[in-house]
Amino acid sequence: MALPSINPTTTDAWKALQNHFEKVKEIEIKDLFSKNKDRANNFTINWEDFYVDFSKNRITEETFKLLLDLVDQVKLKEAIASYYSGDSINKTENRAVLHTALRGKETDTVLVDGKNVMPEIFKVKTKIEAFTNEIVNGNKKGYTNKPFTDIVNIGIGGSDLGPAMVVDSLQFYKNHLTTHFVSNVDGDHVNEVLKKLDPETTLFVIVSKTFTTQETLSNATTIRQWFLEHATQNDVAKHFVAVSTNIEKVKDFGIDENNIFPMWNWVGGRFSLWSAVGLTISLAVGFDNFNKLLKGANAMDIHFKNEEFSNNIPVVLALISVWYNNFFKAESEAVIAYSQYLNQFATYLQQGIMESNGKSIDRNGNRVNYETGTLIWGEPGTNSQHAFFQLIHQGTKLIPADFIGFAQSLHGNKDHNDKLISNYIAQTEALLNGKTKEEVLEELKEKNLSEAEINELLPFKVFEGNKPTNTIFIKKLTPESLGKLIAMYEHKIFVQGIIWNIYSYDQFGVELGKQLASTILKDIKFNTSVNHDASTQNILEYFKNFR
Ligand code: F6P
Repeated sequence: MALPSINPTTTDAWKALQNHFEKVKEIEIKDLFSKNKDRANNFTINWEDFYVDFSKNRITEETFKLLLDLVDQVKLKEAIASYYSGDSINKTENRAVLHTALRGKETDTVLVDGKNVMPEIFKVKTKIEAFTNEIVNGNKKGYTNKPFTDIVNIGIGGSDLGPAMVVDSLQFYKNHLTTHFVSNVDGDHVNEVLKKLDPETTLFVIVSKTFTTQETLSNATTIRQWFLEHATQNDVAKHFVAVSTNIEKVKDFGIDENNIFPMWNWVGGRFSLWSAVGLTISLAVGFDNFNKLLKGANAMDIHFKNEEFSNNIPVVLALISVWYNNFFKAESEAVIAYSQYLNQFATYLQQGIMESNGKSIDRNGNRVNYETGTLIWGEPGTNSQHAFFQLIHQGTKLIPADFIGFAQSLHGNKDHNDKLISNYIAQTEALLNGKTKEEVLEELKEKNLSEAEINELLPFKVFEGNKPTNTIFIKKLTPESLGKLIAMYEHKIFVQGIIWNIYSYDQFGVELGKQLASTILKDIKFNTSVNHDASTQNILEYFKNFR
């Protein structure tokens, strides 16, 4: 079944939302709280260890109802059925989109072209488990018979960001192996990593779905050369493994067939950490924890598939985001995690969200006449409070924000955790309420300032408030809860793609830069020059003078 292709702006719900927006665009969230004592409870979803409060938003009961009408009218239910059942919903690449199957149960049946993919998925999972155990236990050894101490993940985009973010986020659960990530084609990146490595005890995991990506192949080649300065060609098999769909290319690169962990075309790069792309995660935190990550994601998959939309976390978050993006014309969204472990989370989400929904052609092949993908950015709290929060509080832009927090700290330092969480809670309260002129006046009077001084300072100290936030409060950061959190955003991406009537699972926009880079590389290497604009030509000449 193909995805429905409905221009959302033609639906009754959209038109009703547009009218409704004109009436409510000036509403104050704090007034909504005063009018409805049940607001916080009505706009909170309690699910397993997740507490999702979306009441601090510029939405009324009516807004919420109309947004729910919108997903019905763009046929989200049918789209979810297609998504989970292995239909080729990535139509422009003629592929199914089945990261959900990767975290499914062995007894599930998921058909791609009439064939159940679950047995293959579990075959690879068994291979990941056996390999992980051998490396972690030290049974599998390097070419000088020493156990491995270091793992290097060589990949970029989805073959790097997911594993890197998860390994960092789950560092509390890590074993003795040290993990490194090489992604950038910048040779200084790989050289800085190589400086830290002992070839005798390092395992290299080359991750590339296509095995054609310039960055990954360049880094892998450089690393193999470095390795061969210390060891022999025969030793490569003990130290290099690969994850890819392109088995022939991997073999051509010289990787032993037994060292290949396959993946499939129906796994998109930015949704692939659940496949063998997550091998480095499994090596870093052990297969059991990797499996728990998958189980958490599976729980969110089931919630998303079965829960009614009004109580469905990814659906509700997607709708709120559409409300700001398309009606308030908010351009960006911040994701602020109050956990240093989630340091790389926003960076990871940037690929997932912006590569998926950064599209301007709809599913009918027409240019959209409405906004699509939002800009995503963020840094952990409390650091970000001392960096960019000023702009969220008092700037001119509307920046809806997700505040992610974990009630229990992993190291159990209650004093620090109480301080962290008090900041977490205080910020959403401050963004909601702001500080009125009267409150500022009161405060300044207590400081014994003159009237003139007070009047001068007053306007600068007022906070408008009314800044929207979602609080996503989770009991504890565990592999399961992280799996749920990532899957929550994956499904939010899906819902928004359905509403915006775009294809979320291709990324043709990345191609043009790649093509031009290869032309320019030829110009640099062979001192040619092919039809560049004057600016590009000058920049090229400038570089040639210094290289
Ligand atoms: O940036 C484009 C992209 O195709 C991403 O979607 C993907 O995650 C990345 O390149 C890496 O691709 P591969 O895993 O094939 O090396």
